[in-house]
Amino acid sequence: MLVAAPVPPAETLKPFGADFPNLDSFAVGAWWDKKPPAKGKKGGGTPPPTMLVARDQVIAFALYTQQAGVLKLTAQLYPLYPEEAKVARLEVKRGDAWVEVAQAPVRFPGWSAHFRVEGWDGSKDVAYRVRHGEAAKFEGLVRRDPADKPTIVVANMSCNSSRTTGARPEILDNLLRQDPDLLFFAGDQTYRHTEHTAGWIEFGLQFREVMKDRPTICIPDDHDVGHPNLWGEGGRQSVQKDNSDGGYYYPVAYVNMVQRQQAWHLPDAFDPTPVQRGISVYYTRLKVGGMDFAILEDRKFKSGPLGKIPQQGPRPDHITDEKYDPKSIDVPGLQLLGERQLKFLAAWSEDWVGVRRKAVLSATAFCGAVHMHGKRDDRLLADLDCNGWPQSGRNEALRALRRVQAVHLCGDQHLAVTVKHGIEAFGDGPYSLTSPALVNTIYGRWWHPKDEKAGPNAVAGSPLPWTGDYFDGLGNRMSVLAYANPGDIQDERQRADGYGVARFDLRQDKVTFECWPRFSDARKGDSQQFPGWPQTFALADNDGRRPTGYLPAVELPAGPAVVQVIAEQTGETIYVRRLQGGAAFAPPVFAPGRYTVKVGVDRPDQRTLNALEPIAR
Ligand SMILES: [Fe+2]
Repeated sequence: MLVAAPVPPAETLKPFGADFPNLDSFAVGAWWDKKPPAKGKKGGGTPPPTMLVARDQVIAFALYTQQAGVLKLTAQLYPLYPEEAKVARLEVKRGDAWVEVAQAPVRFPGWSAHFRVEGWDGSKDVAYRVRHGEAAKFEGLVRRDPADKPTIVVANMSCNSSRTTGARPEILDNLLRQDPDLLFFAGDQTYRHTEHTAGWIEFGLQFREVMKDRPTICIPDDHDVGHPNLWGEGGRQSVQKDNSDGGYYYPVAYVNMVQRQQAWHLPDAFDPTPVQRGISVYYTRLKVGGMDFAILEDRKFKSGPLGKIPQQGPRPDHITDEKYDPKSIDVPGLQLLGERQLKFLAAWSEDWVGVRRKAVLSATAFCGAVHMHGKRDDRLLADLDCNGWPQSGRNEALRALRRVQAVHLCGDQHLAVTVKHGIEAFGDGPYSLTSPALVNTIYGRWWHPKDEKAGPNAVAGSPLPWTGDYFDGLGNRMSVLAYANPGDIQDERQRADGYGVARFDLRQDKVTFECWPRFSDARKGDSQQFPGWPQTFALADNDGRRPTGYLPAVELPAGPAVVQVIAEQTGETIYVRRLQGGAAFAPPVFAPGRYTVKVGVDRPDQRTLNALEPIAR
């Protein structure tokens, strides 16, 4: 029997406009005729997986979060033929029966379907399956919130090179064994730039076995939206090939498709107002078992360097001039997190409903803890792609973390490090874990101080030669506690591929940072980790300021309590702390002056004491 070739509907031919006819080409128009590039051509030899699958396999994967009675679940489908239904169904298991709870249109471009189910009971494990047509099914488990679990485990991952195709069985095996309560993919889930749907499905196939059964956070980074770097500058149009002018290069419809596929399933945005040109935002919070994670978009509002600061190296974003003055690039008006996200962090820091501890997640690090970039001997002083620049914005962001004793988890750097940030002094800021690249075949980086000396306060007994207090190339203070340099970038077992794990021990009020090589075996224990890990820190030490005095003791409520201390002269919140109530608490302060103290149960909203002054002890 002869079957007529399908005709692609006109609206699927150039969804990103006439100027970008080839964007997402594996998933638009007559996608079924698309041939992978030949060997020797760009992308040849390492093509994405085929988009042509049996029709009972068209649901590639699913990912979800649930919070405050709302389940948000994204199902990613393979491209559909014109005659196929453009709707997916979500079913949950009640007893022995599958019950349909929602339908959702399959969106184009991108072929994703998005379910928002209200009235969700977060206290129960619930099996789900997504269906399409008669035969396609994808099954998983919405986990109950681990409210009674003493330790909340987060896997911290990023930078999943598309040059290395195929499964990641070693990582998957370890993750399934370590059984994280939350997966955090910090960005660069794919490097396919102009083929996000195919690259995203490739990523999904690699990690769906672990994603389908637990909450997953994905935030797109620069390569996910097709850039080498990203300074989003509030969504403006970037015209420079290197994007250093700030903004987004590809059409809004493409950027929004990427964000929809990767981040739609996050809890609703704190303030969903789009940025310029209608580009959507997703910064928000997710609570898992008493841990409250702020999810930041550290790229979206950040200023691009081109034309705003003097160029002092080969590129607008690379500084090599050893005699440059870091203050010359910290000019007024530059944005890092932006006003909107600082407002979000301020509101988040005062809300402790169902919260024991807080942490912050974003794409990249608030310092430049790296010397060699791209090649083993390519030394840069500073790379303005990291959140160490602009320095004032960096300090402001870190003060917001310190205020609630939050650690920071991120990726992007392709060099795993644990640092303790310094703001006014070494050690006074929060701890941070930057994950290694999951697969490091894009860009190697190394920590290698020029004088090859340990810094002051080096980690006692560390197997690593260069730990301790350092200034980064931007003049930021940081204490480097561990790093995982690639040994031989040509050898996949010495390339420092891997991922991080943060274990929040809520009983002992500690966090342990772990760093696992891709080819490690978690069954064999901690000796398998990169040298220098694991490391355990008291969560309270995320605020490393030394008290200069104490305010008069205030009575706390009988159960859990929240205390906020505000400097009256500046209006600045010095900190907001979750405390065990039932006793008096003398709030420490770090400078003389007059303070307001606010006290409550889950928010500092029940009592206000003004004009308190510290008394020396
Ligand atoms: Fe990356």
